[in-house]
Amino acid sequence: MTRKSALVVGGNGIVGKNLTQYLCETNEWEVFVTSRSGLHYETSAHFIPLALSAANVEEQMGDTLNGITHVFFAAYTERQDPYEQSEANGRLMKNLVLAIQKKATNLQRVLFIQGGKAYGAHLGYYKTPAYESDPRTITPNFYYDQEDFLREESRGRKWSWTSIRPDIVIGVTIGNPMNLANLIAVYANLCKEEGIPMRFPGSQQAYQALVNVTGVKVLAKAMDWAANAGQAVDEIFNVTNGDVFRWSQLWPRFGEYFGVEVAEPQRFSLQEYMPGKKQLWAQMTVKYGLKPYELDRLVQWGFGDFIFNVESDAFQDVNKARRAGFHEMNGDSLGVFLETFRQLKAEKIIP
Ligand SMILES: NC(=O)c1ccc[n+]([C@@H]2O[C@H](COP(=O)([O-])OP(=O)(O)OC[C@H]3O[C@@H](n4cnc5c(N)ncnc54)[C@H](OP(=O)(O)O)[C@@H]3O)[C@@H](O)[C@H]2O)c1
Repeated sequence: MTRKSALVVGGNGIVGKNLTQYLCETNEWEVFVTSRSGLHYETSAHFIPLALSAANVEEQMGDTLNGITHVFFAAYTERQDPYEQSEANGRLMKNLVLAIQKKATNLQRVLFIQGGKAYGAHLGYYKTPAYESDPRTITPNFYYDQEDFLREESRGRKWSWTSIRPDIVIGVTIGNPMNLANLIAVYANLCKEEGIPMRFPGSQQAYQALVNVTGVKVLAKAMDWAANAGQAVDEIFNVTNGDVFRWSQLWPRFGEYFGVEVAEPQRFSLQEYMPGKKQLWAQMTVKYGLKPYELDRLVQWGFGDFIFNVESDAFQDVNKARRAGFHEMNGDSLGVFLETFRQLKAEKIIP
């Protein structure tokens, strides 16, 4: 049997990095990984830099990617304006797919990542549990654009597509805008250093809402499963850790883990107040022998302001993937958080 050949797109991202590492570990894939800049981690995957917003992606590829059988698309570029956001991210996907389908004549599947925004999670309240079949919102959304493009472009060709919809992704990487584990870990350590309790910084209502998250390991396993599953052809699957929780249940456990006192929630803007801790963090990196990442490389505080102020329940139903044969969503979000914090510590990113 010929070995499957994966191209992970967005290899520096929280999704792409952890997926690359997982696929390499399985020994079942020859793994190629691309990002715009050089990779900030070691890997046995073959690295090829690609600037996907440029028109000459095919030229940049040369013949290196001719053997690719599966694309795992997890590139992402952030824009403030939602229409620009849609246009820019749609273009990344289009440029990649139009180029790779010409080069890789044995292309079988393009897998890509959507997320809670497919249900309007970024708009505030949405119906829960969220099902893959729920209707779209009228607002611009690059997930819809990317999906429509893949539906159209794959028609009559040998390759099919699959979409995986995680909720908030929990794992280790640096320099990305949406990284909740880094944010909680850095916040806890800053509180501890100042001798101040670690307060949930969102609203009381958000502290009690039912939410869910997706660990990078289960997400990588889901993508690997979907790449091989006949039932995943041209389908969308929600993927989370499989459990739901309230921040009020996990927050005290985070405090225990970091050895910092927890007090009642008090709402304040992380984005407004936490960047001022830049100097303190720099001192802590020296004091505790950490990698010298600047605070704003590790954490985008505005993401925390959003997540910790979601005042209605926000979670996905994951039974479609289970019915189709994916049985790894066993439900241990606290365990996923603690494992991620341990990894951050082992990599000397936090004390
Ligand atoms: N993070 C979450 O909690 C979460 C939750 C649900 C869904 N999602 C979805 O998952 C997908 C991946 O998100 P992520 O958080 O993993 O993203 P991310 O951490 O911001 O990573 C983005 C990746 O895309 C690459 N990239 C950006 N612009 C590029 C360009 N012009 N050309 C080539 N590569 C480019 C970056 O490359 P460089 O770093 O090399 O520049 C990086 O490798 C997105 O669709 C996102 O909406 C994320």
